[in-house]
Parts: sequence; C-alpha cells; structure tokens
Amino acid sequence: MIQAYSCQLFNLVQNSGMTKEAKDHSGVLRLSAVLADALRRRDAYTRLHSDRVMALANGIGVELNLSGSELHVLELGSSLHDIGKIVVPDVVLMKPGRLDNDEMRVMQLHPSVGGDLIAAYEHPRSELVSKVIRHHHEWFDGSGYPDRLAGVDIPLLARIVTMVDNYDAMAVRRVYQGARPHAEIMQIMDSESGTKLDPDIFACFKRVIEQANYAQFKATGDA
Ligand SMILES: [Fe+2]
Repeated sequence: MIQAYSCQLFNLVQNSGMTKEAKDHSGVLRLSAVLADALRRRDAYTRLHSDRVMALANGIGVELNLSGSELHVLELGSSLHDIGKIVVPDVVLMKPGRLDNDEMRVMQLHPSVGGDLIAAYEHPRSELVSKVIRHHHEWFDGSGYPDRLAGVDIPLLARIVTMVDNYDAMAVRRVYQGARPHAEIMQIMDSESGTKLDPDIFACFKRVIEQANYAQFKATGDA
C-alpha cells in the first residue's frame, strides 16, 4: 500500500510545477532534482541534510578511489537517501520531540519506500541507486534495518552514506537535540565503529573530514 502511495506521489511530483533548479537539470540528474525538490518543499531540514551528506559522501568516494560511475551512483543515492520520507506523515516527520515506538516504525519505512520509488524508475543505474537508499540504515553488525544485512553484504556505497548520515545528524541542532561539537561526534562514532559503522570507512572518513575542502561541513556544536 505504501509502495502504491509512493508511485502516486511520484506521478504527482512529475506533473507538478518545479523550481528553476529542477528544470535546469537534465538526464538522470533531473530525476534527482525533481524528487529533491519535492522533499525540499516538504521538509527543509531533510533537504539541507541530504545536500551535506552528498558532499561528504563524495569526499569519501574520492578518497576510496571509486570509479566515475560509482561516484555518480553515490551522488544520486546520497542526495536521495531520505526521499522515502515524503510518505511519512507530518505529525511524525515534523514532531518536535522524540518519536514513540509506533511513530518510529512508520519512520523506519522510509529506506524501503525510497528504494522502491527509485527502483521503479527505468534507468540503467536505478537499481544500484535504489540499493544505496534501501540499505542506508543497516548496521555493520547486522542489527539495522530494513533487511538486517551485515558487513560487506551491505553495499559499499550504502555504508558510506550511513557514515556521513550519522555524522551530520549529530552535527546539526534539532528541536529535541542540540548540535554536538566535532570532537564529541568523532568519539561517539569511534565507539560505534564495528557495530553500527564500517571501521575501514570510518578510518577514511576521519581523513576526509579534516580536509580543508570539507571545513564547512565540520560540526561546531551549539557554543
Ligand atoms: Fe534515513
């Protein structure tokens, strides 16, 4: 039912008026722009978060010497990783506090909904992009969702998005949680390396986040 709703939304988005940014894109990037535009209209936080995740994910991809094709999939997957949130009701998506168990279950549908949405798009890379989106909440130890994949069974590009998604979520102030400073976030992520996070990618992320190119994405905390 959620999947059918997603397809209806997709058609709705395709037929709706778009901002200039969406119109300026071409080819497959147009899909990304249209969907990102839909999410921007719905939830400004998620859109800004997705932009930062895309930039940092690309930094890791370059550091890992990924191919141009892989970087392209990573760009789309990281930009659209939370696109499934367009089917999460406002009372959950914009709740000014922590989610209860029922609300959390609804929120946790977003990776599979987003993955299905992109997989339905006919493009040679849509299946790969779909996997990045579907698996960006899997944990390295197999205790994540939706499929409880573990280790290298989780697509590499999804493990990269998981890494920067975690960093950025802690770096930015939310209604229910202040922004944490960089050193504290890195300490938390270090403690999650091997459980939630891929230790090899964490080692790579530690190098990337210290590069001058990414200074604007580095957490400063609330102080
Ligand atoms: Fe997410």
